[in-house]
Amino acid sequence: MSAIAVELNGRKVQREVPARMHLGDFVREEGRLTGTHLGCEHGVCGACTVLVDDQPVRSCIAFAAACDGRRVTTVEGYDADPVMTLLRPAFSRHHALQCGFCTPGMLATARDIVLRFPAADEAKIRLELSGNLCRCTGYMGIVAAIRDVLAQCGADAHPEIAALRRALHVEGGVAAAPMRRVPFAIFEAVDTGTAAAPIERRDGAPAQKESAGANGTRIQGHFSVPFPAAEVWRFMADLPAVAACLPGAELTEHAGDRVKGRVAIKFGPMSASFNGAARLERDEASRSAVLKGAGQDTLSQSRANGDVAYKLAELSPSSTRVDVDLLYSLQGPLAQFSRSGLVKDFVGRLIQEFGKNVALRMDPSRSPDAPLPAARLNAFSLGWSVLWSRIRRLFGAGD
Ligand code: FES
Ligand code: FES
Repeated sequence: MSAIAVELNGRKVQREVPARMHLGDFVREEGRLTGTHLGCEHGVCGACTVLVDDQPVRSCIAFAAACDGRRVTTVEGYDADPVMTLLRPAFSRHHALQCGFCTPGMLATARDIVLRFPAADEAKIRLELSGNLCRCTGYMGIVAAIRDVLAQCGADAHPEIAALRRALHVEGGVAAAPMRRVPFAIFEAVDTGTAAAPIERRDGAPAQKESAGANGTRIQGHFSVPFPAAEVWRFMADLPAVAACLPGAELTEHAGDRVKGRVAIKFGPMSASFNGAARLERDEASRSAVLKGAGQDTLSQSRANGDVAYKLAELSPSSTRVDVDLLYSLQGPLAQFSRSGLVKDFVGRLIQEFGKNVALRMDPSRSPDAPLPAARLNAFSLGWSVLWSRIRRLFGAGD
């Protein structure tokens, strides 16, 4: 993790971020600025373009950690910008957007063209725009809007824009210094909140987790149950009983420490049913275990690999804390969901639901035949509750 401080649309934001988090995820997940769109996530489509120190940058291939001390401006922060003040109505006049997915990136690039190439003709505009793809093929309107703004800015008609051009050393219709280096803005960071639901870190992860840490997304959580550790440890060895506590999970085969089954997930636009197999490795001495599994969603052909490690800690003779450490990776079309804060919230909530079901299932006063809430709780309702709590957090209400 790296501690960074970024000036995001004039707001000072300080976070601890994974070294590999890209700027697009940072502004969306940590800054809660979802106007920055992620398309290809490998630098091709330009949808994610934002301004870093006033220069267009593809946020999907810029590390957030590399933006420490920088000024980042996203589409939500363009209100006072003199070029954007002209570009917005021009885009509207010339019907320069249809679905709007490419628009935040198009605006950032259009601003750059207006500032750096005051004499750009249509061919030049198209050349400069070639790094931004519009899936609705709205290029004619976009090019027309940029030409319109260039025409409005002729002969220093807008002093603020002329000043911006001078700062870029634009001479004779082109920028003499194409990439202006802006010194880092030093400021005192004040916003130290966290975006995702806080999941408490656990002590003492099993040793095998350390070596696998670089290969996926890790989510940690815990739950407590009002039973002695020895009883909880016995219960957790019963794989069919444990699977029954996990919303969306279903066992199809079970032999000793090996299981086959499926896990169904419906979460916003993502719907998947992973069929796979898993093996449980238990360490009696430390009361820790790891369930290693892999599966495939037949519809999207996405593949998932994951280890669910857990370790029991005796809180008192009659209560136990279970620390859960999930490390997973997704390959295929669903991979884009694997890092989102929503997924982290979802898994955090899943751990809590699992803990409640374990407590219910172990309750000696409960009839063994009584259905668990897990049987009725579908993953969609869990997903919706996560979305709802995010919306409530966004508007300042508690969970
Ligand atoms: S999402 Fe960044 S370039 Fe496509
Ligand atoms: S307006 Fe739809 S992608 Fe450009």
